[in-house]
Formats: sequence, structure tokens, C-alpha cells
Amino acid sequence: MKLLNMDPRIGELAKRLAEADQAHLLQFWPELSPTEQNSLILDMEGMDFQEINGFFKSAMETTSCSKQEKMDTRMEPVPRDVLGSVTKDRDCLKAWERLGLECIAQNKVAVLLLAGGQGTRLGVSYPKGMYDVGLPSHKTLFQIQAERILKLQQLAEKEQKPKCCIPWYIMTSGRTMEATKDFFSRHDNFGLDKKNIVFFQQGMLPAMDYNGKIILESKGKLSMAPDGNGGLYRALGNQGIMDDLERRGIEFIHVYCVDNILVKVADPVFVGFCVEKEADCGAKVVEKTNPTEAVGVVCKVDGCYQVVEYSEITLATAQKRSPDGRLMFNAGNVANHFFSFSFLRDVVHKYEPQLQHHVAQKKIPYVDAKGQLISPDKPNGIKMEKFVFDIFQFSKKFVVYEVLREDEFSPLKNADRQDGKDTPTTARHALTSLHHRWVLNAGGHFIDENGRRVPAIPRDGAASSVSDDGKPNLKDGTDLPIKCEISPLVSYGGEGLEELVGGRDFRPTLIIDEDGVHELVKNGI
Ligand code: UD1
Repeated sequence: MKLLNMDPRIGELAKRLAEADQAHLLQFWPELSPTEQNSLILDMEGMDFQEINGFFKSAMETTSCSKQEKMDTRMEPVPRDVLGSVTKDRDCLKAWERLGLECIAQNKVAVLLLAGGQGTRLGVSYPKGMYDVGLPSHKTLFQIQAERILKLQQLAEKEQKPKCCIPWYIMTSGRTMEATKDFFSRHDNFGLDKKNIVFFQQGMLPAMDYNGKIILESKGKLSMAPDGNGGLYRALGNQGIMDDLERRGIEFIHVYCVDNILVKVADPVFVGFCVEKEADCGAKVVEKTNPTEAVGVVCKVDGCYQVVEYSEITLATAQKRSPDGRLMFNAGNVANHFFSFSFLRDVVHKYEPQLQHHVAQKKIPYVDAKGQLISPDKPNGIKMEKFVFDIFQFSKKFVVYEVLREDEFSPLKNADRQDGKDTPTTARHALTSLHHRWVLNAGGHFIDENGRRVPAIPRDGAASSVSDDGKPNLKDGTDLPIKCEISPLVSYGGEGLEELVGGRDFRPTLIIDEDGVHELVKNGI
């Protein structure tokens, strides 16, 4: 290709591209404006094309069909001795919580939010954490999480006296960084101290066609996507985050995903459990009850701990049952992980390069050789992603902590539609139904429009009964949960409500916030 009147930078770039068999990326160069040429150079200058080709080759090798079948035969369930459980270990919960709060009070605990995803399934153009699921308060996921951190700091201080902080590390991507930072600053960081919120950015990788050629999304632009939530480890190293954690004396890190409205950020019970077991790595799970539910399962593969994604095993394996009738692979990953600082440091400095990319086949819009923009109707290429849990294999002391789905897991993945799963409606209902139960547990009652007490145990098929995959059953308007929202600034996990609600009757909608207890009788959610 003839590249006349060139920017001096282009010669070197063209050579690197030719050597990596990616020279097609400059095929429309003469047609680009100087601004487009400059931006294309900037996009490609820092890219190591040989490395990207290597990622493609090994990712394709590890995802062939025969490998998938082989994976099924290598899987074993999590053994009982590494498992803690909110239902089976009731006697230990208080002690774990105390230990967790003690670690928080000593400023040893940080939280790390994975928020670099693109929210494609939800169909919004802004970061998912900014989503308002329609609670009476209209709080967004980010605000709910921020307020839980604030409250937990207070609880730890109360128990242990000195002032403490839980630093919040937020991983964004090229697609979400600006909007996220701007949102936090517009909302005054939701009351948190700015110096304890640290934003950093994960890497991006190009989409490739099945022959390993990088895809152009327009004549002068590569098709790029975030490199998966396992891009975390590279980003922690190259953005100075490990140094920041060390400088603050952080010993334990709770990593979680942005989309679970019930997430117990820095959960002291989970932290205390992991610390007591001297674990370097831990995962929170809920029981998976439906073989086709779209959650990964924690298990052992060739003797090493791993999460196997729903897309990586055959249906036959997902359907296998133990003699007690439960699914054999039932440790559903809720994307809440615990890492000790020293484990994370080893991962970032030693193990990260060993992590393999996973392949997601996608329909990727591209420009063809004639420069026409094509939107394919079937997958035409792949995106490569590392996964956050792929480091479990390096753990020397791994533990699993099982919690109740209705208390802790309701992810927001999809847009609302009739009978939809993991939607704004199911997330909203999960939160209000949890808060309803908190009020009942604290001795409060709800009354209907005729002043009659609503039974504490709902009727068959009502909101808090649970469907096959563990999600609340919401069939029609009469089965909707009681509308009740409790601000995280008032209660982190149901504590401290007795004085406010004990022995009292309420008409929904019930709101409990820093200003007190209010009933919005006429307003619906
Ligand atoms: C994830 C888990 C899955 C679990 C499920 C529970 C992974 C790889 N899979 O699946 O095992 O059962 O949640 O809800 O963790 N993200 C980034 N950067 C990226 C891509 C994603 O930060 O490049 C973040 C997202 O913002 C989100 C989280 O990672 O907070 C999970 O991403 P998502 O695509 O929703 O994962 P799932 O496939 O639903």
C-alpha cells in the first residue's frame, strides 16, 4: 500500500501492522481526514499487535467444542469443608460479623467495584450504576452502594470507637470513566469523602474476525471493547492501585459487581468469615436451583477452584443432581469476592500473564473491503475477555460462603418486559420485599386499605414465595410486594429498626429515611 504525505509516525506503525498481518487496518487511510488519521494513529500507537494475535490464538484454542465437553468431565462440586453458610452456621454469624467490623474499624478493608461493563443487555447508553430502578426515593445503584458504605463505617465506629474509612476503588472502562466520575461529582460523592474514592480504568481490546483480523467499525476506527472484568488485575498494576492499597494499609478487599441491588458492600460477616478461616481468596454464592439460570458456578476443575460460566458447560452437566435432589453444581456465583492484599499482590505481579482470555462470539458491525458499513445478523467475530474469578486457581486457602438469594442477590441485567428476569422491576421488588421483611422482623406490621393486618406469611404465590430459579414470584398486581423502602443510611442489614417500627402498624408505601418514618398512602411506586 502506498502511504504518501505521511505523518512521520505512520511508517513505523505500518511496519508493525504488516508484521502482525493486520495491514488492512490502514486500507482506508488515504480517504481519512487529517483529524481521523490522527485519531487512528493515537488509537493504535500503544497497541502491541503481536500480543493481541497471541491472545486470539490461545483464546480460540481453549474454547473449542471438544475442550468444553472435556471441561464437564473435569468438574467437581465444592467440598463441604471450605463452605460456610448463613443458614448452616448460624451460631458463628455474630462472631464473624464482629471480626469483620473490627477489621473495618482498623481501616484494613477496602471495597472494589467492577463497573467497566457496557450494560448492553440493559440497553442503556450510560453506566449501569447510574440506573434508577424506580424506588420511591429514586436512588441509583451507585447511591445505594455509597450509602451502605457510609452506614457500615458508622457501625464499625460505634462498635470500635475510632473514626474509620472504607476506601472505594471503582474500576471503569474507556466507555464508562467520564460519565461515572461526572455522576459522582454532580452528587457530591453521595456524602463520602472524595479522597477515599479512587477511580481507575481497565484496558480495551479489539474485536477480531474468525481469521484473527482486527475489525474496523468505521474506515478510521477499530472496534474496541473492555477486556473483561478480569482486566482488573492488569489495571491494578499499571494504574498504581496496588501502591495506593498498600499505602493505606489495606489487608482485605471485597470485590463486587455493579448490578446487584442487594449487594452487601464490604459485608462484615463475609469478611469476618474469610479472615477467621485465614483465606487468601473467597467467593460468595447462592444456591442455584434452575439448571438454565445464567449464573456461573463455583467448583473445582482438575483440583483447582474456578467459576465455570453458564455458557461454558453443557446442559447435561448443568442438570446433574446429587442424591439429595439438589443440583450437583449449585454454588451460584454472585460475583462477590474476597481477596487478601498479599494474594492480590501475587496475582498482579506474578500470575496475571497466565490468565487466558475467554471468547464471546458476537455480531460485530464492520466496514467491508468496499468501505460499506455492515450490521451482521449472525455472529461474525469475537470479543476477548478475562474474568475476575480466573485467579481462584492460584489461591492457597480458598473458601466459599453461601448466602440466601432473597437477602443478597438480585442483579439488574435486562430491560423490563413481561415476565422478564433480572430487570428493573425484579430488582425493585427484591429490595422492597427485603425491607418489608426487615420491618416484620423488627416487630412492625402492615395493614391494608381496610385497616386489616396483612398476614406476615404471604399467601401462596405472593411476592415472597420463590420461583424455580429462586426469584420472587410476581404474577399480577395483587401479588406485588409490600412497598417499603429503608434508606441504607438508617439500616445496613436490618439492624436498628426495632425502636422505629416495633409494635406499630403501617400502610404502604412505607419510607424510612434519615428524616424518620413516613407513609405515602396515596402514592404508588
Ligand atoms: C457475572 C459473573 C457470573 C455471575 C453473574 C452474577 C463474571 C465474568 N461473570 O456474569 O459468574 O454468575 O455475574 O450476576 O464475573 N465488567 C467490567 N468490565 C468488563 C466487563 C464487565 O468491569 O469488561 C463488570 C460489569 O460492569 C459488572 C460485572 O463486571 O459489574 C459483571 O459483568 P456482566 O457482564 O454483568 O457479567 P455476567 O455475564 O452477568
